[in-house]
Amino acid sequence: MKRYRIAVIAGDGIGPEVVEAAMPVLDAAARAHGFTLDWERLPYSADHYLKTKETLPDHAFRHLRDDVDAIFLGALGDPRVPGNEHARDILLGLRFRLDLYVNFRPVTLLHPDLTPLRADRPAIDFVIFRENTEGMYLGRGRVEGDEHIAEEVHTVKGVSRIIRAAFDWARAHGKTLVTMGDKSNAVPTHHLWQRLFREIAADYPGIEAEHRYIDALAMELVRKPGRFQVIVTNNLYGDILSDLGAALVGGLGIAPSANLHPGRAGLFEPVHGSAPRHAGRDDANPMAAILTGALMFTELGEKDAARDLEQAVKDALAAGTRTPDVGGKATTREVAAAVAAAL
Ligand code: NAD
Ligand code: IPM
Ligand code: MN
Repeated sequence: MKRYRIAVIAGDGIGPEVVEAAMPVLDAAARAHGFTLDWERLPYSADHYLKTKETLPDHAFRHLRDDVDAIFLGALGDPRVPGNEHARDILLGLRFRLDLYVNFRPVTLLHPDLTPLRADRPAIDFVIFRENTEGMYLGRGRVEGDEHIAEEVHTVKGVSRIIRAAFDWARAHGKTLVTMGDKSNAVPTHHLWQRLFREIAADYPGIEAEHRYIDALAMELVRKPGRFQVIVTNNLYGDILSDLGAALVGGLGIAPSANLHPGRAGLFEPVHGSAPRHAGRDDANPMAAILTGALMFTELGEKDAARDLEQAVKDALAAGTRTPDVGGKATTREVAAAVAAAL
């Protein structure tokens, strides 16, 4: 039987709750498709940091880099660590150091009543390719007297590879439109995105390449979400657009994501954070974590199991077994059990 080594960083707040709820559901899907998940729980979290002063030690980083098939992460963020140092080392640290340059965030309407938009909207089904290793997130900069200077870094290598990843995915999935969002009318370095987008698009003749300024793109996403197929943008704008995208289809409780470097082990996490106000209340939606598991299965080559998981989530939504964020009264555990039963 095929076995996959999955490292689990459950993290903070609702992270451990949604991860523990999702794991048996993923196990059930794996069993049905003839493979096994060998989970390994790692302690890195705000609690661990406060107790030990350790964020992500070097031996753990090397282990995650060299010995696992995937990393499954809940969420990081805790009011007791207001500077978010542990998340910078663990979450951003893994994205940067493992060079997981694609942050892949699908936005799919899984049930018609989940969108806050009018019911006459067309189906919503697009993916965001968020650059994941540069931009504002490097945290470069300095303080000079009263000036707090943040540097935004875009390289030819970094911008080219995320744009190519978006077009490659579009081509592989029969998509015909790729939209690039930037702010080149105000931020001069974004001209690099304009130039590389034009150049790379020329290599994909069957796919229309369009540009939008990010502010106008945000507006159009709300007004005409059904027209978008693939969106590619920088790290910060992709972060913001992915919460907007989640809101179009039911919210953060059902939004999955994958941090990828093609050919390497990926890091899989819901788009949502640790939602500290929900921690310990058994009302967090585990569907984002379960759908994140489906993305992980796809990357592991287990596409049938991924498809079944997504269908089981749709079935549970249709049957009305939902947590309060998507209009139900069920608990985290009840929703996970309903998804497992639907499998
Ligand atoms: P958040 O995503 O944690 O929560 C925002 C709101 O969305 C919550 O108050 C809740 O109403 C709703 N929500 C989110 N996930 C939900 C779920 N599974 N079920 C039901 N409702 C859900 O964002 P925030 O409040 O801005 O951030 C809280 C902490 O999480 C911060 O420390 C932040 O830095 C961190 N964070 C971490 C990640 C990550 O680890 N990937 C992502 C985003 C935010
Ligand atoms: C996300 C989160 C992270 C980000 C935070 C927690 C650093 O918002 O994964 O979307 O900004 O990338
Ligand atoms: Mn975010």
